[in-house]
Amino acid sequence: LIPGEITVGGVRLHNHCMLAAGVLGTTGASLARMLRAGAGGVVTKSIGPEPKEGHKGPCVAVYDGAMMNAMGLPNPSHDFIGELDGLTESPVIASIFGGTPEEFGEVADWFAGRVQALELNLSCPHAEGYGAAVGADPDMVEQCTRAAKHSGLPVWVKLTPNVTDITEIGLAAERGGADAIVAVNTVKAMRISTNFRRPVLGNGMGGLSGPAIFPVAVRCVWELYEACEIPIIGCGGVSSADNVVEMMMAGASAVEIGSAVIEDTEIFRQITESLYRRDGGECPEDIVGCAHA
Ligand code: DOR
Repeated sequence: LIPGEITVGGVRLHNHCMLAAGVLGTTGASLARMLRAGAGGVVTKSIGPEPKEGHKGPCVAVYDGAMMNAMGLPNPSHDFIGELDGLTESPVIASIFGGTPEEFGEVADWFAGRVQALELNLSCPHAEGYGAAVGADPDMVEQCTRAAKHSGLPVWVKLTPNVTDITEIGLAAERGGADAIVAVNTVKAMRISTNFRRPVLGNGMGGLSGPAIFPVAVRCVWELYEACEIPIIGCGGVSSADNVVEMMMAGASAVEIGSAVIEDTEIFRQITESLYRRDGGECPEDIVGCAHA
């Protein structure tokens, strides 16, 4: 792979590996820190139409090779905008959510001129009225995408793996005018504490992330690459340079990294250094989707 600036889904990125939504994306300082740590671009924590406190705890559980969360989309809503001061020229992508196309349109407009693109969170597995409930309905996905496009910003649509046919949702985003698809958000999951005889997470259900879901994410990227024309950004359990290459061979033009950043904030530099030092020196264009033959 050849290092350098790349353009994916209408956004100029410093390299192929971005910070995924949610993780360290709650303040301008943490976003700037991840860019300094070598992220090719950074996605914010999801911002919605009203301030939201999130679910009662415990909100996170960590297991070998996996993490489970049910944060419940906590966010300060419009007050977040100030965090972006000084970052308007940087590759920052605002993750946004809503329950209706109108709400997506409203929140999208707040970010015009302040970020390089929007990432629509249509995929949180455990938020009443938001997220996967909206993201499993192709018509809603198409309408929400179209509403966000009115902002004039490039629109990426982040999909849930918790559907029977992800290509149906990807094609709906494409019809709505999406500039890229991000695949995928967390896998709906649950664990029970055998000591307390209750679900581990306060919310009961949560979203699984980390290396355990990498094969699910690769499968989703593969299916979307076969069905869709727009670029796909791979997300889900990426934790090594080899994972990045594998995602790209499945069809991803770039990747987002979440859980692995919590373990090690130096991961971007480590991954990109070994990525761009690989034998063969292929161009990214040569490996994207190459496994499809
Ligand atoms: O797993 C997730 N947790 N996915 C989301 O989209 C939102 C997040 C949360 O805030 O609960």
